[in-house]
Amino acid sequence: MEGKIITGLDIGTTKICAVVVKEDYDGTLNVVGIGSAPSYGLRKGVVVNIDKTVSAVKQAVEEAQTMAGVEVESVFVGIAGDHIRSINSKGMVGVTRDDHEITEEDVERAINAAKALALPIDREIIHAIPQEFIVDDQDGIHDPVGMCGVRLEVEVHIVTAAVTSAQNIVRSVQRAGYDVEEIILEPLASSLAVLNDDERSLGVALVDIGGGTSDIAMFFDGHIQHTSVVALGGQHLTSDIAIGLRTPQDMAEEIKLKYGTTSRESVNSSESIMVPGVGGRAPRTISRSVLVDIVAPRMEEILALTYQKMQKSELLELMAAGAVITGGAALLDGTAELAEKIWELPVRIGVPKHLGGLTASVKNPKYSTAVGLCLYGAEYHNSERVLAAHTEGALWDDVMGSFSTFFKRFF
Ligand SMILES: Nc1ncnc2c1ncn2[C@@H]1O[C@H](COP(=O)(O)OP(=O)(O)OP(=O)(O)O)[C@@H](O)[C@H]1O
Ligand SMILES: [Mg+2]
Repeated sequence: MEGKIITGLDIGTTKICAVVVKEDYDGTLNVVGIGSAPSYGLRKGVVVNIDKTVSAVKQAVEEAQTMAGVEVESVFVGIAGDHIRSINSKGMVGVTRDDHEITEEDVERAINAAKALALPIDREIIHAIPQEFIVDDQDGIHDPVGMCGVRLEVEVHIVTAAVTSAQNIVRSVQRAGYDVEEIILEPLASSLAVLNDDERSLGVALVDIGGGTSDIAMFFDGHIQHTSVVALGGQHLTSDIAIGLRTPQDMAEEIKLKYGTTSRESVNSSESIMVPGVGGRAPRTISRSVLVDIVAPRMEEILALTYQKMQKSELLELMAAGAVITGGAALLDGTAELAEKIWELPVRIGVPKHLGGLTASVKNPKYSTAVGLCLYGAEYHNSERVLAAHTEGALWDDVMGSFSTFFKRFF
C-alpha cells in the first residue's frame, strides 16, 4: 500500500484498541483499519496481567491490520493511571553563538536544563513539552530559533510516570510482536483527536472519562498547562449497579448502557426495568429511578474529583472555551449537563476528528485516544525537528531506546 502507515494502540481498562491510519503523500490521514478486544489485564489504567494484555493486544492489532491489508510493525501506545504526575519547570541557558543568534541546540539545552529534576529512581520523564520561551526579558515566544538574545529561558510541562508501569506496557506490546515507537500520555493523545486550535488557545479542559480512569489535560494560550488522573471511571458505575441491583457484571453493563442516566428529571416515576438475578435467581422488576440513584451519585463523584484536580491547577478561571468530555463514559446520558453544573463551565462531548477514511467507525468518544495516538504518530514522522533530547534514564533506555518531547505545533 502506498503512503505511510501509522498505528495507534490504546491499552485501556475496558478495551484494547488499535487504529491504523494511512498518510498520503499530500499529508491527508485516512483510517484504514480498526481492531478492538476486551481488556482483562488492566486495573485503573495500569497493566496488572501481562499475558492477558499480550493476547488482547495481538487480537486488536491483527484485526486492524487485516482490515487495512498491511503488516503492522510498530505502534504509538498510550499510558495512563494515577501514577502519572506533572509539573511545570523552568530552564535557563546562555546563548552560545558570538552573534547571539539562538540555535536549535540552545533550545535543546534550555529544555534539558528544565528537565534536570531530582526524580526518584522509580520515576521517569515521559514528556517534556515546551510551553513558552523567554528571550532576555521578552516572554510569550513560541519559537525562539533565529532570534537574537543573550539569555534563553523555557517553561516546560513535564510529565512523569512510574518506570514499572511504562515497562509493563512496552513489554506487553513487544511480546505481542510489535515495536513501541513512543509512549504518549493518553489525555494528550485524546486532546489531539477532539480539540480545536482555538479552544486550545482560549483555554480548555479536556476530560477523558474512560472505564478505569478519568484523565484531565488543561490547555491555555495554545499549550498544555496541566495533566492529572482520577482513578475512577465507567467501570465503577457498572460495579455499583451490579452490587446495588444484585445482578452479574455483564448484565449491569447492559443495563447501564440501555437505561443509565444521571438525570433524575428525565425519568418517569412509573418507568420500570427488568433486572436478571445472580446464580439462577429469578429476574426482578425495579423502578428506573432506583438505577438513577446508583448511577448519578457515582458520576457526580467522578466529576467532583476531576473538578478538585482542575481547581488545584489554578487554571480553572482561564478556561474560556469551557471543557470537552470524551472517553466511553462521556456517553452516559446526562453527563455533559451534569458536568456543566458541577464544573460551572460550558461542556461539549468530543468525538475524534481530523481524519478521513473509515471515520464512521471511529466516530465515538471511546476511540479518541487511539485516533489521537495516530495523529501524534503522523506528526512525529513529519516533524523535521523533534524538539529536545532523549531521556537519560538507564532503565528506560533498556526498553525504549529514546523519547522525544511533544511538538510545539500541538501544545
Ligand atoms: N453509551 C454509553 N453509556 C454509558 N457508558 C458507556 C457508554 N458507552 C461506553 N460506556 C462506558 O465507557 C467505559 C469505557 O470507556 P473507554 O473505552 O473510553 O475506556 P478505556 O479506554 O477502556 O478505559 P481507561 O481509559 O479508563 O483505561 C465503560 O465503562 C463503558 O461502560
Ligand atoms: Mg481510555
